[in-house]
Amino acid sequence: MENMFTKKFTLIILSIAIGFSMNLFAQKPQPIVVNVDKPKADIKPTMWGIFFEDINFAADGGIYAELVKNRSFEFNKPRTGWKIDEISKDSSHFLIINRGKLNETNPRFARITIKEGTNKFSISNSGFRGMGIKQNNKYNFSILASLPTGSNIRLRVELISEKGEKIGETSVIPAGKDWKKYDAGFVATKSDLRASLRISFEGTGTIDIDMVSLFPADTWKGRPNGLRADLVQLLADLKPGFLRFPGGCIVEGYDLRVRYQWKKTIGNVEDRETIINRWNTEFAHRLTPDYYQSFGLGFFEYFQLAEDIGAEPLPILNCGMACQFNSAEVVPLDQLDPYIQDALDLIEFANGAPDTKWGKIRTQMGHPLPFNLKLLGIGNEQWGPQYFERYALFEKAIKVKYPDIKLVSGTGPSPDDDLFKSAVAALKNLNPSLVDEHYYRPPSWFRENATRYDNYDRNSYKIFAGEYAAQSVFTCSPDNKNNWDCALSEAAFMTGLERNADVVNMCSYAPLFAHVDGWQWTPDLIWYNNLTSYGTTNYYVQKLFSNNKGTQVLNMLQENKPMTGQNGLYATAAFDKQTNEIILKLVNTSDKIQNNSIVLQTSKKVTPKAMLTVLKSERLDGMNTIDNPEVIKPVNQETTLKGKNIEMPVAPYSFTVLRIKLQ
Ligand code: AHR
Repeated sequence: MENMFTKKFTLIILSIAIGFSMNLFAQKPQPIVVNVDKPKADIKPTMWGIFFEDINFAADGGIYAELVKNRSFEFNKPRTGWKIDEISKDSSHFLIINRGKLNETNPRFARITIKEGTNKFSISNSGFRGMGIKQNNKYNFSILASLPTGSNIRLRVELISEKGEKIGETSVIPAGKDWKKYDAGFVATKSDLRASLRISFEGTGTIDIDMVSLFPADTWKGRPNGLRADLVQLLADLKPGFLRFPGGCIVEGYDLRVRYQWKKTIGNVEDRETIINRWNTEFAHRLTPDYYQSFGLGFFEYFQLAEDIGAEPLPILNCGMACQFNSAEVVPLDQLDPYIQDALDLIEFANGAPDTKWGKIRTQMGHPLPFNLKLLGIGNEQWGPQYFERYALFEKAIKVKYPDIKLVSGTGPSPDDDLFKSAVAALKNLNPSLVDEHYYRPPSWFRENATRYDNYDRNSYKIFAGEYAAQSVFTCSPDNKNNWDCALSEAAFMTGLERNADVVNMCSYAPLFAHVDGWQWTPDLIWYNNLTSYGTTNYYVQKLFSNNKGTQVLNMLQENKPMTGQNGLYATAAFDKQTNEIILKLVNTSDKIQNNSIVLQTSKKVTPKAMLTVLKSERLDGMNTIDNPEVIKPVNQETTLKGKNIEMPVAPYSFTVLRIKLQ
């Protein structure tokens, strides 16, 4: 009896053990094979780039380093940003004068009158949610002023900390009734996140002032009218293949009056007409009444920025249509010529010889050499027949004069709805080189759509994945977060973009920038306050793809299939002809470690030392913040390989890059 029981028990244990080991065996994944010697396709140098739009205080209050808000009193409420600190007696005053037609692009200035014996009048500017001031940094103050004969006024210029302390000062003594620019530099004695600028007028008489400006001296490359160096550095670190500018819906405007017009953004800064920013009133939940566009960062500066960071410039122009989510205003087809002329003139501005009309302006602005423009976008996120009939007229005119310029068309706001399908149908009769697709979708969409381009038509236009970002709540929700779930899902999707690099030639996350106190739209790639900035988890995903781009895609197959989410694993492989390296990217979206064998099929020898970079978080809701900017960041480590068969454990919720050098 006992014997029977022991036998039965042993049998049960044995079968459990066999079952368990068979189960284990079944779970052991098949090796992943990378065919190194037969690359699939070239990866374009433009593959990973940047989408810039003046949203979330990206230009004024962001990368454009001007610290004075409403410096020329041109906001609809002309005293916005300005506070009158002290008026002595009833006779001193501050007036806004509008010269109307005498200066159409900068009509307003301020007139300050100080009566004899009063001797005190001061105004303060609050900056963009304060002014970020750094101790020992130099600041350059400038102002346009004019004084009628008989006036005798000296300006005391002070930086005042949030707590009210003086943290820097200088003075200016203007003279003469002709408008003149006065400059004064000084060094700040203390740092402050939310300082303000106080200008005290001492003396008697009247003074007219305009273009009141304060810049840090440490702008990117030390340029006057320059850009915030920390923000440009974050862009340069991406090693972007292109810079798309100036948007986004800002190109369209909520109506055509406030559309982006590049010609109004070049030349002397004081002649660039300030207009409202369309994001000012876009979201009732994030109203930003003090959001305007000074265009201090204009088209010349965008081209210069692209050149500085080694990116192809990709301007996007208004196509005669305002935002279809707003007014949906259109220009009649028979009045489209000025818009088309803007496109032709832009090409001349960027590429024309210094003796051409627009090339001359570029030269006068300090850039005699061409900017080498090759790409041009017609319209942003437009849709419907109105768009395609306008696009067709642009295409016809531009191709006659500039056949080598590659045109980019849009497909509307969604990657898969009826508008998108009708766009795809309409594009069959047109000849854009690239077509811009936008996806603001939940993280799951990104994981599920890693195969999106596997079956795209190889004989048609190329894809510009021009705006994408996983939305943790829903598109336009103010609660969206730049969390690891979103970033990891984007990484999974991006393996599909890279695998299809023969079709997908350009990609950019959107939006790019957000001021922590001045944003309208979230998530965004880079966040900042007035002093510091940081890259989100999504930024590091973009950076790892871009910095490890390679020049050719390789086949990377498991059981003859691309790695598109088997057990939650997504992977892609590239080869870099310049460095002679294989670059593997593995994205594990599961909560389990994945033990994979990777076989490199190559006739060449593999160098044992390889570089492993891992970006990971144990929590899908993990994220970087302005106070904790490096919670999730890439960690590099040298690793040793034992030949062409690599045992590669991939951590849960991680994005891993392995660079392997061939001998
Ligand atoms: O990136 C924010 C906005 O999203 C862009 O302006 C627009 O093109 C899209 O709808």
